[in-house]
Amino acid sequence: MTDTAQQEAREPLAEVKPSVGNKSPSRDTLLEEGVFQIVAERPEDAAAIEALLDVAFGPDRHRKTSYRFRDGLTPAEGLSLIALDAGTFQGSLRFWPVQIDGAKKPLLLGPLAVDPARRGQAIGVALVRRGLRLARRLGHDWVILIGDYAYYKRFGFVHAFPHGLRFPEPVDARRFLVRRIPRGPITGISGLVRRADGAAVSAEVVRPPS
Ligand SMILES: CC(C)(COP(=O)(O)OP(=O)(O)OC[C@H]1O[C@@H](n2cnc3c(N)ncnc32)[C@H](O)[C@@H]1OP(=O)(O)O)[C@@H](O)C(=O)NCCC(=O)NCCS
Repeated sequence: MTDTAQQEAREPLAEVKPSVGNKSPSRDTLLEEGVFQIVAERPEDAAAIEALLDVAFGPDRHRKTSYRFRDGLTPAEGLSLIALDAGTFQGSLRFWPVQIDGAKKPLLLGPLAVDPARRGQAIGVALVRRGLRLARRLGHDWVILIGDYAYYKRFGFVHAFPHGLRFPEPVDARRFLVRRIPRGPITGISGLVRRADGAAVSAEVVRPPS
């Protein structure tokens, strides 16, 4: 990771500004004023992250498609982020290197999870935005993910299947999403998303939308 990217990952958002009176700040205010911090994941965060992922995705999450796809891989360097509020862990986001024909440094985004008690306060949005910004600085050119279109469309993600991309595990095509970094048209990439280490995952491909 470059020094700039490392610094960017560790750089917190603006200082906490507590809400005034009885009026709760809006989600946009929370994001703008930086009520929480987005920083690089540290080794000591591992247990809290695992516990949150158990809550968010269930203890059998390792059987899920995207988990099987990245099983045994190392997360993309400099792109494992956590959200902190007054030093307390609130959320996590990781990215993984993948290979796609036509892409130079594509990534798989996920898992993204926020403490259930802190959801709806723009922590998820802040994690994804910071992650995409850092990914750009680190020279990544594409991101794919398996997730809710209704959530990820706000960041510019679109359905990947109609653009000729395929995922090597059976997934609901409506959840298979892609975005260019920086944001732009989905052209010049196609075919099967492959693990960064080239290992085979499965012969099955994603179902076309029904
Ligand atoms: C999804 C998740 C990360 C969002 O984090 P968050 O900090 O609560 O989200 P934000 O506050 O940044 O954004 C809230 C917005 O996302 C929407 N949203 C939250 N989860 C959503 C989902 N699964 N699908 C569509 N929209 C969703 C909310 O309705 C809200 O919409 P609004 O901006 O129109 O009000 C969090 O709910 C979570 O950890 N969920 C369980 C794990 C998970 O499903 N992760 C991956 C998502 S595919």
